Amino acid sequence: MPYLMGLDISTTGAKALIIDAAGAVVALANTPQPISQPQPLWSEQNAADWWAGMRGSIRAALADSGLAGGDIAAIGLTGQMHGLTLLDKAGEPLRPAILWNDQRTQAQCDYMTEVIGADRLLALTGNPAVTGFTAPKVLWVRDNEPEVYARAAQALLPKDYIRYKLTDGYATDLAGAAGTSLLNVAERAWSSEVLAALEIPAEWLPPVHEGTEVTSVISAGAAAETGLRAGTPVVGGGGDQAAGAIGMGCVVPDTIGVTVGTSGVVFAPLSRYAFEPRGRLHAFCHAVPGTWHLMGVMLSAAGSLQWYRDNLAPGVSFATLLDEAAQAPAGSEGLFFLPYLTGERTPHPDPLARGAFIGMTSRHSRGHLTRALLEGVAFGLKDSFTLIAQAGLPADYEVRISGGGAKSPVWQQIIADVLGARLVNINTTEGGAFGAAILASVAAGLFDDTTAACEAMIQRGATVAVGANADVYAQRYATYQSLYPLLKDTFAQL
Ligand code: XUL
Repeated sequence: MPYLMGLDISTTGAKALIIDAAGAVVALANTPQPISQPQPLWSEQNAADWWAGMRGSIRAALADSGLAGGDIAAIGLTGQMHGLTLLDKAGEPLRPAILWNDQRTQAQCDYMTEVIGADRLLALTGNPAVTGFTAPKVLWVRDNEPEVYARAAQALLPKDYIRYKLTDGYATDLAGAAGTSLLNVAERAWSSEVLAALEIPAEWLPPVHEGTEVTSVISAGAAAETGLRAGTPVVGGGGDQAAGAIGMGCVVPDTIGVTVGTSGVVFAPLSRYAFEPRGRLHAFCHAVPGTWHLMGVMLSAAGSLQWYRDNLAPGVSFATLLDEAAQAPAGSEGLFFLPYLTGERTPHPDPLARGAFIGMTSRHSRGHLTRALLEGVAFGLKDSFTLIAQAGLPADYEVRISGGGAKSPVWQQIIADVLGARLVNINTTEGGAFGAAILASVAAGLFDDTTAACEAMIQRGATVAVGANADVYAQRYATYQSLYPLLKDTFAQL
């Protein structure tokens, strides 16, 4: 029986997953990854840590499964998007990688908007200049570390550094490339116009591939380091959101994905390229060949709950906090939480936005605060969902939910009620790594295409119907929406 491997270099871990051809998880190994914030707004990791972690996870997954490298038919890659790994001409990292959640590049984003023009940048790349994306990071290095810039020869996304270590070749996938601000997203090719305007050498960028396309094979050196078989094909894969969507079966426009991880994402596949006219949603290539997607990203979803627990209720279990939240009434007696703890992207692209509890009275207990936080994150998801609905949803669609935060039935019910949409759980929980393995299964010839692979490997589970609180939330949402505009200038002053 052939097996597939999905490798996910996420912000928190280097994960190796092995599945069989029916989609059953055979082994999963994860090596935690350190992250450093050397200055306010900065977020960095060392590429060497990624590779050490991934090497260990691949070995551990193979050992746990009892499989040999030769049992793996193909490998798919996924990982955190938008990160910049700059290499010299010998393939050595020149500085720590600058990550997707790094917010240092506002000046470079302003420059990009000025030299390319806001409308032209949006039309070409599907997105405005976003501080977390890759292109402004390249410009930041040029502006601030000219000695590093002068030695640069290759710019890679995090997962493509893993690909390079595995195969000795430079390549990327279209879903990941779309998050760089350097891709002509409609044409699925690097934009010579953007590269020329920003004076970024085209030869720094690897060739682009569709998600199911084989980019290269495991090298003899990597085989010796990992236990994989030399010659095993590695497919394009996808950025974590596109691969995660595939792991949820969100491959056609009638299946919308909601993910409540550290970040909160609403993901809508598109069969034709479109972008949100004001750039409030991301428009990217999907990892399903020849398709695209719209996506709203809030930066702190379950991340907000994690922060809250760690700082305000240390030592208290999530289960206790969620039980207390379930006892508080819908609407938390007029208490609101704005989830902009690390700035925001959708619908307010503002690195200076801040989190807030608004409307506290002495009647409010911890349960109210927790519930307000869960509701605030759900309202943030609704912001993305509403923009996607405005961009045009099919008449009949299904909303699938996944992610660590989605494991809570209380939070799922709040999200269903706030969105006014029935939620469908799915059997797979390994998100991006699972999606990357699905993409590999197509390249291995096990299925005709990604849709067929998803149909075979993903099953629908419990559903959550819209409940009685939907009306309360519809009223509260208007108040929630009014708060950011009122506070925007204050956040900037803070
Ligand atoms: C997507 C995004 C995150 C990162 C890290 O636009 O920024 O999903 O890829 O997970």
